Amino acid sequence: MQELKHIIFNTVTEASRKMAPGELEKSVAGATGLDRKTVRLAIKDLVSLGELTYTYVYGTSFLEKSFDRPVRVSKRIVIKPPDKTYQPQPGDVVLSIAGGAAFGNGAHPSTYLALRALDRILSDCHFVKLDTPLKGLDIGTGTGVLAIALAGLGVHEVVGLDIDVCAVSEAIHNVQLNGLAAQVSISNTPLEGLKQCFAVIMANLAYPTLTRLSSLLSKKLEQGGVLILSGFKEPATKDLRDAYAEQDLRLIQEEIDREWVCLVFRKPGQP
Ligand SMILES: C[S@@+](CC[C@H](N)C(=O)[O-])C[C@H]1O[C@@H](n2cnc3c(N)ncnc32)[C@H](O)[C@@H]1O
Repeated sequence: MQELKHIIFNTVTEASRKMAPGELEKSVAGATGLDRKTVRLAIKDLVSLGELTYTYVYGTSFLEKSFDRPVRVSKRIVIKPPDKTYQPQPGDVVLSIAGGAAFGNGAHPSTYLALRALDRILSDCHFVKLDTPLKGLDIGTGTGVLAIALAGLGVHEVVGLDIDVCAVSEAIHNVQLNGLAAQVSISNTPLEGLKQCFAVIMANLAYPTLTRLSSLLSKKLEQGGVLILSGFKEPATKDLRDAYAEQDLRLIQEEIDREWVCLVFRKPGQP
């Protein structure tokens, strides 16, 4: 039974898209030669254990990895609900994110792709040097998850912005939960209203918004700075690559997961 649960869990997490319960049952039954009823019971167990959860999109149900427990989303970043304990491994950065209405519990590919890119960039001293005070920006902060990760990974001063006042209040709450209020400021100030430039900018926003903001985001990036874009699917990628290349940014990384894409650009020059 344990082995079967392992296979089911891996099937869900490694699938290129969300799986409906029937599809998951069929796929695992086909791969293992077991009958669908046995597979269904093991899926039920995984849901009661909090490993998998049902999600609903436009009346269709799916089974996905549950974020109601600590989940590792990148080499160093683990996201957990505030009421769950987690024993960190050396080097882990643990983010406590409370459930609410704002987007950004870590489960969506646009969020974890951005977090993975950030973890890679900040581990590589070739791109960003953490021994000098750095400023980071997270535009479209939602729960504050990317802003909190920036600070947790060593960016000294972080600004998180969102146009939605509910998201702003949830992000402030999450920043406080993580003990980062001195480092991270959250507000609904429009991007145009910010005077400073940033060494790292993260933007998990819809494709039209990213297109509209290409010039402003590029201006807000310091020389040598890194811009992480997420929140769009493969068909939008070429337009966004072109729009940001027109701003003289250089594409340095690209990752795709479940049709969602994350692009990382760098502004030429020395910080
Ligand atoms: C996809 S969510 C990203 C949340 C979180 N940063 C994450 O990565 O999971 C996008 C967020 O951007 C906000 N938003 C949309 N347009 C915006 C804009 N022009 N300026 C600031 N925030 C914006 C939305 O209210 C929403 O909270």
